[in-house]
Amino acid sequence: MSPSRCDTGRPFSWERSVSNELVKLTNITKVFPTPSGQVEILKGINLTLRSGEFATIEGPSGSGKSTLLSILGLLDHPSRGEYLLSGTPVTGLSEYQLSVLRSRELGWVFQNFNLIGDLNVWQNLALALKYAGQLPKRRYDARIRDVLTQVGLEEKVLSLPAQLSGGQQQRLAIARALINDPSLVLADEPTGNLDHKTSRQIVTLLQDLHRQGTTVVMITHDPELAALGQSRYRMDDGCLIQQSAEPRSLYG
Ligand SMILES: Nc1ncnc2c1ncn2[C@@H]1O[C@H](COP(=O)(O)OP(=O)(O)OP(=O)(O)O)[C@@H](O)[C@H]1O
Ligand SMILES: [Mg+2]
Repeated sequence: MSPSRCDTGRPFSWERSVSNELVKLTNITKVFPTPSGQVEILKGINLTLRSGEFATIEGPSGSGKSTLLSILGLLDHPSRGEYLLSGTPVTGLSEYQLSVLRSRELGWVFQNFNLIGDLNVWQNLALALKYAGQLPKRRYDARIRDVLTQVGLEEKVLSLPAQLSGGQQQRLAIARALINDPSLVLADEPTGNLDHKTSRQIVTLLQDLHRQGTTVVMITHDPELAALGQSRYRMDDGCLIQQSAEPRSLYG
């Protein structure tokens, strides 16, 4: 029997890196077509993220931060350049393999939370477990309770997202991001819709994840939060520049 040309459902095993380099981007460019021609939004990005690092990216609106995060998060392809994830060239992977990596190895946190409004807290998290397809259903409840305890939402297991405050919705989004124990969490302005105090609680949770060994990349417009990064970058007109800054504590 000849092998199927369709690329669905084949088993795909992914070895987590034993090396220290989780992400290595070399000369990544991204070109978008616009009515006035092709525009180069990313102009040759080089970035290495060590496993367990907490990196922050700041920079003006339109400079290409979210475009870079989409490439890191395997939601978009670069126009040119090389992306190694755990030493594997991502450009060589099929759409099916990319979707497996997206659900198992990556966690996303967005400014507008991106929760599913007609599913309750438990169901939002169960859906993420189902997509990843690694955990048997009988273990969903224990895993969901674990992550809800981690983010302090154990009382809200049956609430709908609309019944949660903004900070609680973002904590649920973080629970969803970490439920499959990802190697990389990508946060695109996770505190953009939150007040000062709640923002700090959310970043503290991301720092906790980092302390537990997860690699975290956070985009933020808040210089005080950007300064908390172990490595701190600035995006300027499609170029990524590493800033020299020591990480600071949230509380002094
Ligand atoms: N699919 C697309 N097609 C054409 N242009 C795009 C596309 N996606 C993004 N752009 C353009 O790329 C540029 C960078 O966008 P991006 O969303 O990465 O900026 P950003 O740094 O995240 O900005 P902000 O801080 O406002 O979120 C913008 O000029 C945007 O219009
Ligand atoms: Mg953006």
